Formats: sequence, C-alpha cells, structure tokens
Amino acid sequence: LEKNNALREAGAHVPTNGFDGIGSSVSELFAQDLRPICTPRVLPLDFRVAKKQNLVRKSSSIVSTIVDERGTELLYSGQTIHSIVDQGMGLGGTIGLLWFRRQIPPAFARFIELCLVVCADHGPCVSGAHNTIVATRAGRDMVSSVASGLLTIGDRFGGALDAAGQMLLDSVDRITPSELVVEMRKSNTRIPGIGHRVKSVDNPDSRVQLIKDYMRTQCETVTYLSYFEEVAAITTSKKGSLILNVDGAVAASMIDYMSTFMSLDDIRSLVDNGLLNGIFIVSRSIGLTGHHLDQLQLGQPLYRHETDDVFYG
Ligand code: ACO
Ligand code: LMR
Repeated sequence: LEKNNALREAGAHVPTNGFDGIGSSVSELFAQDLRPICTPRVLPLDFRVAKKQNLVRKSSSIVSTIVDERGTELLYSGQTIHSIVDQGMGLGGTIGLLWFRRQIPPAFARFIELCLVVCADHGPCVSGAHNTIVATRAGRDMVSSVASGLLTIGDRFGGALDAAGQMLLDSVDRITPSELVVEMRKSNTRIPGIGHRVKSVDNPDSRVQLIKDYMRTQCETVTYLSYFEEVAAITTSKKGSLILNVDGAVAASMIDYMSTFMSLDDIRSLVDNGLLNGIFIVSRSIGLTGHHLDQLQLGQPLYRHETDDVFYG
C-alpha cells in the first residue's frame, strides 16, 4: 500500500483495486490524455490540387513575355502563328513581335527586311566571313564556323549600330552635326557609323543608298538620318572614306522608324540593350551560313596564310 501511495504521489496512475484495476485505469488514462495526441493530423492540401483550385502558384524562375507555346497554337506576342502567316507579316513582322513585343507598322517591317537583305553579306574578305571560312576549312561544324564569324562583330565591324544609335539619341536635340564632329575629335573617338575601308565618296556604298531611298519614300520622319548625313557631309569633306556607312545608315533609320510609334525613353532602352546590332547579327548569320556551305561544297582544304603576306619583324 505504501508503495502504491508513493507512486501516486510521484504522479503515477495507480489503480485503486489492485492488479485487477489496471485495465480500466489504462483505458481511463487513454480517454483523458492520450486520445487527443493520437487524433490524426489534417494533411495540408496537396500542391497539385491547390494549384488546380487556383489557391497557390509556384514562384517563377523565368519570366518571359514574348512567346507562349503551351496551347495548341504557338503565340508570338499574343498572335497565333497561323494569323502571322495568314497576314503575311513575314520576317520583319515576326521581328516586330519578338523584339518590340507588338505588331509594328507594315512599312517598318518591310524596312527591317530591307536591312536584312542588304546586310546579309559583303563578300569573303570581310572580318566575319573570313573567320567563318577559316573555321570551316579547319573542319569545324556549322555552329562553330558561323559563331566564329559572328564573334568578329563589334565596334569596328558590323557592330557599330548600337554606339551610333546611342550617340544620335544623345546628340540630335543637344548639338549641331558640326559640334558633334568637333566633340568626337576632341575626345579622340571615331564616330560610330562613319567610315569604310573600301567604300568612299568615289566608290559609294549602294546599300546605304537603298536605305536612304526607302526612308525618303516610306518613312514620315528622317530626323536622325538627315542629321547623320550632315555629319557625313562634314567628315567626307575632310576624307573621302569617312562616309555614312551601312551600320550608321541602318542605326539612324531604325531610330527614325521607331520614333513613329515609340517614346524616346523606350527607344533608348531598346538601343541600350543592343537591339540595333541585333539587325546586323541576324542578317549576317545568313551570309556566314552561306560561306560555310560554300566552302564545304567546294571541298576547300585547310587554310594556311601565305608567309609572303606576313612581315616578320
Ligand atoms: N570617325 C572619325 N575619324 C575616323 C573614323 C571615324 N569613324 N574612321 C576613320 N577615321 C580617321 C582615322 O582617325 C584616320 O585618321 P588619321 O589619318 O588622321 O589618323 C583616318 O580616318 C583613316 O583611318 P583608318 O583606320 O585607316 O580607317 P579604316 O579604313 O581602317 O577604318 C573603319 C575603317 C574601321 C570602318 C573606321 O572608319 C571606323 O572605325 N569607323 C567607325 C566604326 C564603324 O562605323 N564601323 C562599321 C563599318 S561598316 C561595317 O562594318 C558593316
Ligand atoms: C560589311 O558589310 O561587312 C562591310 O561593309 C565591312 C567591309 O569591310 O566591307
């Protein structure tokens, strides 16, 4: 009895009627204390069910606004590819949807296509084609050979559009063309979009003329193009090769066209993000792909530069 009392005092549940009471004591204890602990937990809602009921969303690792491929019909900026094809929006219109995220004016779409045509290639001797040809003849595959050509596009070759665009956006409302030429000379900076290695006043670049002609007949404003032509009039008066080059003509004209349906802030942001060079990159990929195929079709051997064309100092 003493042992039972001691156990009770220590907090143990001790049956009052000895060993026979163990069963009822355990069942009383279970009813009072244990049952609530054993009540099954309510499981949280399954994620898939909750998602179906629109109660939750997974945080996104990618935010994308130009293409939706989830439905039965592929959408470019909300337009089905059927309607893009049916409307004859072409490559220019498709670039509008994927780069400008909207349907661009048809005349602008045609202008982009003109740029793609005139910039597609400029022969085997220019930096990009030369690299592609050498890479192809070294046995590299198409992607590597074309990439090797594309990697030459930069401030001097084919990639002067962005810098030309930024310069024009910064200058047109601020300084005159002659002040710009002086400013660039003072800072010892070459004017992006001006100058060509082989084209000059005496050997004009017909690509530039095609662009100018299209702009003067189709675009309602040529503010940036005219400004750049004035810059070129000054530079060519000093040196015949300092013409408005194809990079400069495309850059200025693109900005003129963009200004017909976009704010200057939006234009600046796209130009800062490299949209203008994108035109040259896409276009020249066509020519570089051609050079790769051409070299293979001709079965050209490994290229090695002639030593008599190197001055060993
Ligand atoms: N602005 C001001 N001066 C220039 C420019 C320019 N854009 N380009 C050349 N010059 C000057 C040079 O400073 C040099 O002057 P100097 O004789 O007093 O020293 C003179 O003209 C000749 O320069 P070169 O280096 O011999 O010119 P080159 O024919 O080699 O350069 C190039 C051609 C690279 C296109 C050059 O004119 C240039 O850098 N232009 C700006 C970048 C550009 O627009 N690139 C795109 C070209 S088009 C295309 O790639 C599709
Ligand atoms: C080109 O389109 O590749 C060029 O105008 C550059 C060049 O050197 O001819």
